[in-house]
Amino acid sequence: MKDKLQLILKNAENEIKNIITSEQLDEFRVKYLGKKGELKEILKGMGKITDEERPLMGKIANETREKIETHIDIVKEKIRAVELKHQLMKEDIDVTLPSADINRGHKHPLNVVLDEIKDIFIGMGYKIAEGPEIDTVYNNFDALNSPKDHPSRSLSDTFYINEELLLRTQTSPVQVRTMKANDPPIKVISPGRCFRYDELDATHSPMFHQIEGLVVDKDITMADLKGTLDLFAKRLFGENTKTKFRPHYFPFTEPSAEVDVSCFKCGGEGCKFCSNTGWIEILGCGMVHPNVLEECDIDSKKYSGFAFGMGLDRITMLKYEIDDIRLFFDNDIRFIKQF
Ligand code: DAH
Repeated sequence: MKDKLQLILKNAENEIKNIITSEQLDEFRVKYLGKKGELKEILKGMGKITDEERPLMGKIANETREKIETHIDIVKEKIRAVELKHQLMKEDIDVTLPSADINRGHKHPLNVVLDEIKDIFIGMGYKIAEGPEIDTVYNNFDALNSPKDHPSRSLSDTFYINEELLLRTQTSPVQVRTMKANDPPIKVISPGRCFRYDELDATHSPMFHQIEGLVVDKDITMADLKGTLDLFAKRLFGENTKTKFRPHYFPFTEPSAEVDVSCFKCGGEGCKFCSNTGWIEILGCGMVHPNVLEECDIDSKKYSGFAFGMGLDRITMLKYEIDDIRLFFDNDIRFIKQF
C-alpha cells in the first residue's frame, strides 16, 4: 500500500508539471483527489491491512493527499497569474488616459429665475401649490367667474381635449383647487406650464409658464397686495425698483390691475428696452372676486383675498435680455449654459 501511495504521488508530480490551464487542473484534482479518484480507491483497501499498520498507512495517505493539494494550490496560483496577464493584455486599458467628459448639463434659465422667485415668496411664508396641466373647463373658466362668451374660451384660443377637459390656459385654476381643498388662511404660489392656441414666434409660444399667487384670510386688502408685489419686485429686480398699478380687467378679481416695474435697465429714464416709457409690465393681479370665493365654499363676508399671475418666460427674458422665447425650448446647451 505504501508503494502504491508513493507511486500515486510520483505520477501526480510528473503529471502536474504539464498542466497549464484551470480546466486541466480541475481534471487533475478529480483524477487524484475526487470521490472516485485514485487516492480514494487506495483507501478502500485500508480494511485489509493489519491494525498495527493502519495508523502508519493512514498517516502516509494523509501526507500524500496534502502534498498533492499543495501542488494544486501552487499551480492554481501560477495559472491565475498567467490568465490575468493574458486578460490584461487583451483588454489593453491605458489607465493614464484622461477620463471621458462627464456631461453634467446645466440648470435651465427658467428654473434659475423660478427658484429665485420661489425663494422670495417662501421667504414671505408662502407654500407651493401644484395643479395638473390638463384641467377641467370648470376650474379653468367657470369657477373663475369667466363669462360664457369670453373670447379666451374660444376654440381658436384654447386647446380642448373634450367638452369638459382642456390644457389649462393659465395657472389660475390652481386657485380654485387650493380654495376647495383648504380653509383660510391660504398663502400659496403655484408655478406651472400653460397652453394657448398661439403661433410660435419670438414672443409667443403655445406652451409657456406662469406663476400664480393666492392669499385668502380675514381682512386682506389691496394694501397687502401692493405691499407684497412691491417687495417682490424690489427683491427680484433690485432695491431701487418702483412699481405702478394700472387698473385692468380680469374676471376673477375685482378690482384688478396690471403691474409695471420701473425699467431696471435705464432706471426709468426711458430706453429701447422699455420702449422709452421707463416702465415694464410684469404681471396681472387683483382682489379675489366674491363670486370666486363663494364658488369655492369660502364665505366672502368673512374672508377676502388677493391673487396675481405672472409669466415666467417673459420675466426671464426681461431679466437676461433674451429676445426670442424659442431659445428656451430648443434645449441647446450652448444657450442654457450662459445663465
Ligand atoms: N390668469 C391671468 C392670465 O393668464 C393672469 C392673472 C391676472 C392671474 C390676475 C391672477 C390675477 O391671479 O389676479 O392672464
